[in-house]
Amino acid sequence: MSLRQRRILIGVTGGIAAYKICELVRRLRDLEAEVRVVMTEGATHFVTPTTFQALSGQPVRVSLWDEQGEAAMGHIELARWAERVLIAPASADTIARLAHGFADDLLSTVVLATAAPVYVAPAMNQQMWASLAVQANVGTLRVRGIGVLGPADGDQACGDIGSGRMLEPHELRDLMVASFGDQPLRGRRVVVSAGPTYEDIDPVRFIGNRSSGRMGFAVASAARDAGADVTLVAGPVALATPPGVRRVDVRSARQMHEAVLSAARDADIYVGAAAVGDYRPSETSEHKLKKASGTPLHLELTENPDIIASLAAAERRPFLVGFAAETRELASYAGEKLRRKGIDMIAANEVGGGKGFEVADNALHLYWPGGDESLPEMPKTDLARQLVARIAERFLSGSGTTP
Ligand code: C5P
Repeated sequence: MSLRQRRILIGVTGGIAAYKICELVRRLRDLEAEVRVVMTEGATHFVTPTTFQALSGQPVRVSLWDEQGEAAMGHIELARWAERVLIAPASADTIARLAHGFADDLLSTVVLATAAPVYVAPAMNQQMWASLAVQANVGTLRVRGIGVLGPADGDQACGDIGSGRMLEPHELRDLMVASFGDQPLRGRRVVVSAGPTYEDIDPVRFIGNRSSGRMGFAVASAARDAGADVTLVAGPVALATPPGVRRVDVRSARQMHEAVLSAARDADIYVGAAAVGDYRPSETSEHKLKKASGTPLHLELTENPDIIASLAAAERRPFLVGFAAETRELASYAGEKLRRKGIDMIAANEVGGGKGFEVADNALHLYWPGGDESLPEMPKTDLARQLVARIAERFLSGSGTTP
């Protein structure tokens, strides 16, 4: 991968993660990108402009009122020069000022003046990140089409553990590389569900299934690379969150139903890759059920809500893609499901006999009203890319029931 002659403007703001941007500039330069750094005044308390000047090989600008800088490349020229603007780390303060359209320093002015896609990589204490004010501001940025990359969960410089860590330099570099690829879903919102659901019988037992979540996670990554703003609603899985994807963890089908409906309210596309439990125990015992030797135990099961069918029934609904895992008669079951659930595309795969679950490769057969296509066996990550490309084609051609 190369970023030869690509022009990336990095805005560094005041946060301890600023030190990691030295590494990011290096990694982007390794790929032959042209990098220019603009710092806020706050950022200079963490890393000096001289450091970034040495690493980028370009003058670093901080102030809007720097006459020499304005003479060399003024704020409007900088804004025009940039093909991408990446603000990393993006502090709570910078996010707030961007959300309100301030233009009282060089970086905020450049952001207003640029036609290039803008990305922010938030970095802050987990409590700050969770605050209503920050969440509202980030929501405003998202609505305006600014890409929000991360944050990730984990240890924080302040000693806390939680969400608010900046993505790692190599992850930001990869996201920048992806941003120059073909991005048919730029500015679109995609919700993906993934993994199994667990339906509790008692505090220690549950009914689950063998879904690993890998296919859904791969679809979320592929949709992100296609430029979408992605929310991933995940059942209980042991997988790392793809960088730049917003993740909501759930356990039961009912929790997934609620999380998906809330996330999909203003989404453009929903991909239901989760293996949602069709039934749950009618009652969950508060205490561990005791064995009564010699007598069979009867569990009564109640049907779970059908998430994708609920979305299909809504007045304003996203483009809907369902998965169908079948052990036989793929085509007839998939076709029937497409009609019965009233959705726009079904990705069917054969499971059982070592296929489908818990494996890295998969094959899919896509069905949509009036057509179908076979995607041969390949790694789930490649398959997800092809699937997302097909979804984008059909979505953009307006072939959803209500595009
Ligand atoms: O009917 P079946 O479970 O085979 O359909 C699979 C598709 O429907 C998947 O996309 C799955 O995520 C979705 N589904 C759902 N809610 C359920 C059951 C399945 O959204 N309760």
